[in-house]
Formats: sequence, C-alpha cells, structure tokens
Amino acid sequence: MKITVNLKERSYDINIEHGLRFRFTDLVKSAFPDTSFAIVTNTTIAELYKELINSWSSELDCPIHVVPDGEVYKTIETWNGILDFLLDSGLDRSSKVIALGGGVVGDMTGFAASTFLRGVGFIQVPTTLLAMVDSSVGGKTGVDHATGKNLIGAFHQPELVIIDTGFLDTLSDRDFLSGYAELFKYALIGGRDMFDFVYANHDAMVAKERDKLLEGIYRSVSIKARVVEQDEHETSGLRALLNFGHTFAHSIEKYFNFESVLHGEAVLWGIHCAYEMGKLTDTVSSGDCSLFEELLSRMPLPKLPQKVDPGKILGFMYKDKKVLSGKLRFVLPTDPGFSKVSTDISEKQVLATLERVFP
Ligand code: NAD
Ligand code: GLY
Repeated sequence: MKITVNLKERSYDINIEHGLRFRFTDLVKSAFPDTSFAIVTNTTIAELYKELINSWSSELDCPIHVVPDGEVYKTIETWNGILDFLLDSGLDRSSKVIALGGGVVGDMTGFAASTFLRGVGFIQVPTTLLAMVDSSVGGKTGVDHATGKNLIGAFHQPELVIIDTGFLDTLSDRDFLSGYAELFKYALIGGRDMFDFVYANHDAMVAKERDKLLEGIYRSVSIKARVVEQDEHETSGLRALLNFGHTFAHSIEKYFNFESVLHGEAVLWGIHCAYEMGKLTDTVSSGDCSLFEELLSRMPLPKLPQKVDPGKILGFMYKDKKVLSGKLRFVLPTDPGFSKVSTDISEKQVLATLERVFP
C-alpha cells in the first residue's frame, strides 16, 4: 500500500506493508541513488534488530548512532549527540538520515536532520504503532524541555516513510495499546467512515489481526496525510484537529514528569476528557452520546500512578504550545467522526471536566 503526501517540492511517499524491512535497502537505494546515509536508532531496537541493522549498515555502507531509550532522553543533549555523530560521519548536504524507532527517535532524528548543515533529508522507519499511525508522518520534529513537551523543534517533512508492521511483533502490549490510542483518536476526527471502521474493527485491531491492523494504519495515515496537505504548519485550524485529547494529554504527561505514563496512555485519558468537555459544553448532541460512550467503553483507561490534581493539570496547560494569545485550545467532539477546535472554554469548565474524569 502506498500513500503520497502532496506538498509540492516536499512531497513524499509512505509505503505500508508487512515485511517491508527486508526490502528496505533496495527501496532507499532506488529512491535515492548515489546517496550517503546514516542510521539513528535506540538501545532497545539496536539490540532487538542487531542483525537487520548491521545488514542495512553494510548494504548502505553507513554508520549507526544509538541513543538511550525513553522519553526522558528526548532532550537537547541527545539531539546534540546526534548532531555530533552526523558531523563526525562526514555526511554532506545530499545525505539522508534514517530514523529507525518509535516517536522519540523519529522526532529527535528529524529535528537533527532539520538543523544539520541547515537541513538534510531524512527517512522515517517507524517501529511502534504510535509512530506508524502518527509521528512518522507530517514533519513535526523536536525535543522536550523541562517546561513542557515538544517545546523545541521544527517542521521538517521526511522524504520517505517505510512502515513495516512486522516490527510490531516485538512491541510490548503496553506500547502497542499506547500507540493504538492515536489510531483510536482518528475515529473522533477522521469522518463518519473512520468512526464506523474503528467501531466495527476495534477488537480485531487490538487482537493484532494483521489485515485489519494494516487497514487501520492505512486509514489513519491517509487521514493524517490529507490534513497535513491542507494545513502543513497548523495555521488554519485543520491540523489542530489531530491534537484531539492532546491539551489534556500533554499536561498529564508533564504532571507525571514524562516518566510513568506513556504518551498514548495520556492521549487516551485526554480523549475521555475531551468527550466529557464536549458533553459539558454541549458540542456533542445528546442523541449521539450513547454511540460515543459505546465506542469509548472499548478502550479501558490505563491506571495512573497516583491521584491527579485538576488545578495543577490546568496550570500545565498554559505552558503548552497550543496556547494562543493566552487562550487554551481544545478539540471537542461534535458528531461521530467529527470534532471542532474551541478556544472559548472557561477555566471553570476545564476544572469541572477534570473533576468529572479524575474524581
Ligand atoms: P517511544 O519512541 O518511546 O517507543 C516506545 C517504546 O517502545 C520504547 O521503549 C522503544 O524503545 C520501544 N520500541 C520501539 N519499537 C519497538 C519494537 N519494534 N519492538 C520493541 N520495542 C520497541 O514512544 P512512541 O510511543 O513510539 O512515541 C511517543 C513519542 O512520539 C512522544 O515523544 C510524542 O511526543 C511523539 N509524537 C510525535 C508526533 C509527531 O507528529 N511528531 C505525534 C505523536 C507523538
Ligand atoms: N500529532 C499531531 C500532528 O502531527 O499534527
């Protein structure tokens, strides 16, 4: 399966197939002949896929850089280490950097590629479900800051995305479900057809039935591609829809210091919060509530390490980059498959929502 993201001179293909990693070097060599490459991955993937990475490295004659694993390492220091590696490797402006990993490796490597020699091309090879359905596409790259998530970064589109669902065989169930939360999110924003698809195929996808999962990934990426084409830099409000649940999620992650709650787990809590806020502020019509609630009941909420303080969560929201002119922005459901951006939610309503979800 192939999807093209049409962005004029920044257009690129996304290839989706089980087992694509075994054709990876042929694919990149034919897409980028006479090009030098470098691979960036993390310690976990380097260990799990040692043979594969060594074969890519020898077939592409390229060096490998291994970063520590974890959101806590999505920092300026690790990004700087990638730049040191790229500079030491003697790459030039025509070189391509291969990001092999989940969202953390992809975001940091993309950001390094955006700044190395004022910007070189990069290839996303997502190895988590989250990265397959979301982070590897669309060109948001960056690192976290002590103040908040993804606060330092750049828009830098990849030049190729290779999605091999075979990588999911080694992913932990917890990381799989965390990534699935981002796929599930498309049910709330991707139109009625996506809502119905997720509604009907949720169990099969969670059970990792290959064909349904491939279709879910294909549909998610297609929705994201069409949104990014129309609002690449998130200026018109359309791309903001992809942040469904994220105003809550980023604050929840910050509340737990990016350590004990995974991004997708926080997104899942955020999805539930957004629905409750939609009910509270009447963006959801009462006639649709049972359909939404039936869908949401299929994704049980992960346990949080400790009780959440709604006041603190609200405080962290103001540090988020989605804040515009001091106003919080929320994406709220309207009809099944559809949502809208709202900037006129009062602090009282935010607190009331949080108190409902975190009693
Ligand atoms: P992650 O990259 O930390 O990966 C999760 C865990 O799975 C890690 O321990 C990783 O080493 C391990 N792993 C990766 N692939 C594996 C495999 N095939 N087998 C076994 N283990 C594997 O986290 P993630 O959930 O992929 O991504 C979360 C990050 O993505 C966050 O930093 C978030 O901000 C970012 N994100 C970015 C965008 C974007 O548009 N750029 C969108 C959504 C999320
Ligand atoms: N993950 C949200 C976006 O790419 O815009």
